[in-house]
Amino acid sequence: MTLAELLPSTGCSTEPVLEDGLWPDGTQVAGQDLVIGGVPATQLAARFGTPCQVLDEQTVRTRARSFRAALPEAEVVFAGKSLPCPEVYRWMAQEGLSLDVSSAGELALARAAGFPATRIIMHGNVKTAEDLKAALEHGVSRIVVDSFDEIAQLGALATHGQEVMIRVTPGIDAHTHAKIATGVEDQKFGFSLASGAALEAVLRVVEQPSLKLVGLHCHLGSQIRHVASYEEAVRRMVGLIASCGTRIEQLDLGGGFCAPYLPGDADFDLAGLAHRVRGALNYECALHRVPPPRLLVEPGRSIVANAGVTLYRVCAVKESVRTFVAVDGGMSDNPRPALYGAKYAVRLVGRGGKPKPVTVVGRHCEAGDVLAEDVLLPADVHAGDLLAVPATGAYHHALASNYNQVCRPPVIAVKDGVARPIVRRETEEDLLRRYV
Ligand code: LLP
Repeated sequence: MTLAELLPSTGCSTEPVLEDGLWPDGTQVAGQDLVIGGVPATQLAARFGTPCQVLDEQTVRTRARSFRAALPEAEVVFAGKSLPCPEVYRWMAQEGLSLDVSSAGELALARAAGFPATRIIMHGNVKTAEDLKAALEHGVSRIVVDSFDEIAQLGALATHGQEVMIRVTPGIDAHTHAKIATGVEDQKFGFSLASGAALEAVLRVVEQPSLKLVGLHCHLGSQIRHVASYEEAVRRMVGLIASCGTRIEQLDLGGGFCAPYLPGDADFDLAGLAHRVRGALNYECALHRVPPPRLLVEPGRSIVANAGVTLYRVCAVKESVRTFVAVDGGMSDNPRPALYGAKYAVRLVGRGGKPKPVTVVGRHCEAGDVLAEDVLLPADVHAGDLLAVPATGAYHHALASNYNQVCRPPVIAVKDGVARPIVRRETEEDLLRRYV
């Protein structure tokens, strides 16, 4: 069915408006259906079942391009952990991005995607010997070291001047949730700038004949709203570069750029980031008399979050102290509310109606399995209704589990009216395969 067929003949003047910025680009309400990437949500649910994670390819590509356009001088590295999927990695390769992986497993997906090794960076506060060996064997371009033990281990394993960056903790509070704040002291990532550990790490890497120090790295955290945090990171990191006593060619500022989840949430100020980071870099490098390093940024969420929509079927409505709307997914496909207190908007697809506040809950055996509290849905919401949750493209497929042996949902890519699975739905056969 085309979009035109779905539109009521009276036109769209009474169409409910979609919340700005939350949905994939071009998403429309047609009739009462929701059309994503040219494909009606009701069709997606009927064809692929629910729960179902829908990913709008064009939105992903547009966001990837917008990073490259805003920072043409920088290397833009997609944070592969935010949406680990070979097809998505291929889109990133085509858009000219690099890729960061944080395990041999993510590297295996990158290899399956045919992602050029010269544009892969490996991260992680712990890399097992297997991770490091896989990275060396595949010839990933850079490895970001995160402990003295790792420097020694990698130095012993590497044979040919493996390029290395050092993960630095710059001591910056970027005002995000404690569980995803990584720029501050007293958390497990990086070498502290303040304690001198970062400078010591520089010396240790330089001492290893099999390693070549090319850059310094920091990652302040995730869902960061303020450009000022990155500006401060540049100041501190250039200060460190100046005291290294060796040429540092690359400065990686990590990712963490926020995405909107709720109506009214602002998008990240990418133009502001580019302008202020560039200004700070030039100023600080001139001040310290060091040649400006090449910048790297590692966006994950800001590229894929708003490209994703999850579809759920309502299974039961329970009137209690409040109205609970229970769906066929939950914390196994979205643990973010339980982990970070994340909040989501929810929309009923297929009809409107006088709204009332409800709490959307999942199917898992925990009282904390809540997807969205106090959201407005039509008062007559009932079993069989289809719900759509926007901003579910980042860290949903990645964090999904088999809790209660519930099979993980597929990821369905949509573009120009065509839908195709890029991750298939998990089956009970998949589950049983691991049991001995
Ligand atoms: N670079 C490094 C070294 C990272 O550790 C991360 C994310 C990124 C880049 C990308 O950050 P982004 O641009 O996506 O914020 N599971 C959490 C998020 C964890 C982020 C982990 N590291 C969540 O669902 O909010």
